[in-house]
Amino acid sequence: MTRIHFRTLPQQVPNESSKRVTPKLRFSSMMLLLLAVTVGGCSGDGSTGNPAGENIPGDVNDPGGVNTDPVLNDPDSVTDPVRVDLPPLPDPALTQAPSSDDEPLLEADIYNTATGIPVLQEPGPRLPETDSPALTDADFEAGPLPPQYQIPASVDPDVNSAPYFDNLGDHDVFAGEILEVLFKPLDSDGGLPGMYPEELPEGAVFRDNLNGTKTLVWQPLQRDVGIREFTVVALDPLNSEYRTARTIRIRIELPQDLSTIPNVPPRLEELESYTIRVNDPVVLEIKGIDLNGPYPILEIPELPAGATFNQHLRYEEVYVLKFTPVTVGTLPIEVIARDAVDPSLTATQTVELVIRDAADFVFTGQRLRDLASSRGINIGFASRYEFYHRPDSGLYTDIAAKEFDIVTPENALKMDYINPQPGRYQFAETDNVVAFANANNMRVHGHPLVWHRQLPEWIERSSENTRQGHMQEYVHRILSRYKDSIDIWDVVNEPLSDDGSLRDSVWYQAMGEDYIDIAFHQAKATAPNSIRLLNDYDVAWRGAKSTAFFELVERLQQREVPIDGVGFQLHIWSDFERFDEVHESFQRVADLGLDVYVTELDVSLSSEGDVQRQAEVYRDILRLCLDQPRCKAFQMWGFTDQYSWRRNHAPLILDTAYQAKPAYTALQNELALP
Ligand code: XIL
Repeated sequence: MTRIHFRTLPQQVPNESSKRVTPKLRFSSMMLLLLAVTVGGCSGDGSTGNPAGENIPGDVNDPGGVNTDPVLNDPDSVTDPVRVDLPPLPDPALTQAPSSDDEPLLEADIYNTATGIPVLQEPGPRLPETDSPALTDADFEAGPLPPQYQIPASVDPDVNSAPYFDNLGDHDVFAGEILEVLFKPLDSDGGLPGMYPEELPEGAVFRDNLNGTKTLVWQPLQRDVGIREFTVVALDPLNSEYRTARTIRIRIELPQDLSTIPNVPPRLEELESYTIRVNDPVVLEIKGIDLNGPYPILEIPELPAGATFNQHLRYEEVYVLKFTPVTVGTLPIEVIARDAVDPSLTATQTVELVIRDAADFVFTGQRLRDLASSRGINIGFASRYEFYHRPDSGLYTDIAAKEFDIVTPENALKMDYINPQPGRYQFAETDNVVAFANANNMRVHGHPLVWHRQLPEWIERSSENTRQGHMQEYVHRILSRYKDSIDIWDVVNEPLSDDGSLRDSVWYQAMGEDYIDIAFHQAKATAPNSIRLLNDYDVAWRGAKSTAFFELVERLQQREVPIDGVGFQLHIWSDFERFDEVHESFQRVADLGLDVYVTELDVSLSSEGDVQRQAEVYRDILRLCLDQPRCKAFQMWGFTDQYSWRRNHAPLILDTAYQAKPAYTALQNELALP
């Protein structure tokens, strides 16, 4: 789950001197500091204190390195950069280390496709990314939750008051009843605040009343019984980064007369169409949904020849179609979901498989990875989550293996996925990517170790004084497992917000800027031989954010933080023109003695059909990388439009049918230049 981290306004200004700040940070972050709720969990006592000595790199083991001065009182004093000691890992550990209980198991063949590797699965059912106990009646009766605020550094809440919601409370309903809750955001400084819901309950709508208010309309059913929370965020009319979040609680109970709850028809999870290469095995997972509770029964009235269609052994709501198409052509497959209680209630969807000849996927010219390696760079892609469970994995893996020599797991190494609950780990997906990379002689790029998004709830809810320990423990455990198989890491991802201030993340709130130092030091202590990057977006061209980014990198270097390079995300558009500035930024990184990585390039179409322009943008970014001796890798955020986080903007080099777009050929041509 991804959400902004909000906090409750403190009752009083905390003790400023106990908050660690680094000298250059004082002005820009003054406001944030004044608003910060608690003090950081930093290496406050100045001791180097790790008797085992195992995770303190020699070069930062400097007892003088801890700044205990209340520098806030003297904003004019300019001091030497203060190095940050690496605090020892928590002892005893804060959460359980990975154990044999977390070890992935070999998956049955029927669930995956031909990827050339033995596919692993999690040892148990997929873990929800929350450990919060279900809310109780006592929680509900304690009354509404206080508003939470996000206050950018540039906003003074005494001058600009936060938006709020008029007359909002909690609700009690019976399953089957229709609930309507009005959300009316107001601002005492005038103007009409915008708003958005964080996550709608399934089946609910957030109706726009077209008068500045919206209404949650929801008929909770059996599956919803319990206490649910629903959050809406209001945006300040003057500064949309200034936000107020209100969470309401809804208690849903079963009515005495269960027949008052309507039995709604089941649904099928939306199915895409797929392009398949003839003779490749197809695995298609189909999921049935029924808000009344019992899962629907799925049927395929006309099974393709030789196909099986069975309920998944581990996920009751999922059915798996497996077969190997042997003739080319379009194959529509009709799927029916039948209500488990009333078989007359059904839902139907048709998934279209386009089966094509193998020759349709043979690209002319040389493979990108061969060309790139003769130019001295890696070329790669971000791998779609569980690509080996997709109907088209045969094609996907074959093309990936032929064209690329570096891979980044797109989501598998994000903390909410890999460590969803304290002491619980899901390694199967990353292990599979590593195995795939090994089988195909590819490098793996680990992304990301420390980030503000895709965090598990247990981290978002952790107390600030344990967070540094959690961060170090996490970095240490992930790197301990993967240090020999993944050699490049985005140690910190997206440390800055769009205006260039340090992003007010859970990590920043607990440690100030020091979290970056500590993350890098810990990464080095655990995996001394890996390459450590700072990765961000919108920092490759001029602007407040890139200015702040380079200042940050310089501060890190002054403090001798072990950073090896900068990752430029580059999620851009086909009307992009600021190549000179990108060139400058690459050179600036090189001048700092660091390596350049293009980590997440994709080029969304600014206008439909703009594929020639898109090709030129790909070519020009590649050229800048090739022209910069310190540019080590050119990595795209996927390779087929079928699997892109910006699929609607067709940003990648192959189309949804795995056909080469002009961008593919443009990369080939550019790489082939002498
Ligand atoms: C994106 C993934 O592509 C999506 O599948 C996911 O839902 C959200 O994250 N910057 C990053 C990446 O560092 O991790 C993000 O990836 C894209 C932006």
